Amino acid sequence: MEDKILISSEEIQKRVKELGKQITEDYQGKEIVVVGVLTGAYVFVADLLREVKTPIERLEFISISSYGDSMESSGNVRMYLDLKKDIKDKHVLIIEDIVDTGLTLHSLMELFEARHPASIKLASLLYKPAREKYKINIDYLGFTIDDHFVYGYGLDLFSKCRHVPHVAIYSGEAKK
Ligand code: IMP
Repeated sequence: MEDKILISSEEIQKRVKELGKQITEDYQGKEIVVVGVLTGAYVFVADLLREVKTPIERLEFISISSYGDSMESSGNVRMYLDLKKDIKDKHVLIIEDIVDTGLTLHSLMELFEARHPASIKLASLLYKPAREKYKINIDYLGFTIDDHFVYGYGLDLFSKCRHVPHVAIYSGEAKK
């Protein structure tokens, strides 16, 4: 069975523009420290930031994961790459690809809040409410999706397909 396109590249670009506009309006007069969550958010970060017209003080990437190699959340979180500079008194905008169980963001928020930023907000391209275990407040949400395993636009399918310009539903079997 061929994988179905869930969200086309055109739909994504339209939504990204809207989110960029909203972020620009919300952060008037403030400088933002943007934190992209590797690896899945890399495309969203690049597209979204080009739609943000307020000053961005710096962009950093972190690598944190609650996933092993399978499609089920492993339930534990590992930080592979942390921020280079402090976020104390900064306006932090985290950009993530997808909120699934919410475990990754829950842990990350806790960690960042302990560093006393002036504010902390979250942009996520996708949200899968059916799998939610931790309630996460997503300030800038691209799309709410049903319980499918999806890939493309930065999200991987067993490490592949991140470069696909749309979001597709994987129709195959879960890799054990
Ligand atoms: P959470 O901690 O369960 O919310 O998982 C978040 C992470 O799981 C995301 O940053 C993704 O890397 C990965 N993930 C969850 N669902 C999918 C999916 O449908 N496709 C690809 N990666 C996913």
